[in-house]
Amino acid sequence: MAIQRTFVILKPDAVQRGLTGEILARLERKGLQLVGMKFMKATETQAAKHYEEHKEKPFFKSLVQFFTSSPLVALVLDGDEAITVVRTLVGSTDGRKAPPGTIRGDFGISRSNNLVHASDSPESAVRELAIWFPEPLVTWTPATQAWIQGD
Ligand code: CMP
Repeated sequence: MAIQRTFVILKPDAVQRGLTGEILARLERKGLQLVGMKFMKATETQAAKHYEEHKEKPFFKSLVQFFTSSPLVALVLDGDEAITVVRTLVGSTDGRKAPPGTIRGDFGISRSNNLVHASDSPESAVRELAIWFPEPLVTWTPATQAWIQGD
C-alpha cells in the first residue's frame, strides 16, 4: 500500500454550477479521506504561483482571471495511490474528450472551464499544498478505514 496525499481544487465553474457536492461525493465514495477543505476566493498571487509552470502560455492571463473571479473549494485528500486515483476520476483536461464516467467527462464540455484541478505528482502535491494550506491539517482516522484499505 502506498498512501499518498493529493491536492484538489473545485474550480470557480464547479462552485457556480452547484457541482461541489456532487464532485466531493464522488471523491469520498471512492474511499479517499478528506483531511483539508476550504471555501475561499483565490488571490492573484496564489493563482499565479499555483499555475507558474504555465506563465509563458497564451492562456495564462485568462486562467488566472478565471481562477480569481469567483470562489473555489480547496481540498486535501489521502488514500492509497491517491494522486493517480484522483487524476483518473477527474479525467483528461478537455471535457469534450474526457471519457464518460469521469468528472470532466460527465459534467464538462470545455478545456479552460474544466471544473477540477488535481495534483499530477507527489512533488506537485507538496508544492501546491504549501500555497493553499500553509497551516497544519487535521489528523483523524475514519471509522471505515479498515473496510476500505487492503490490497
Ligand atoms: P488544470 O488541470 O488545472 O491545469 C492547467 C489548466 O490550464 C488546465 O487544468 C486548464 O484549465 C487550463 N488549460 C490547459 N490548456 C489550456 C488551453 N489550451 N486553453 C485554455 N486553458 C487551458
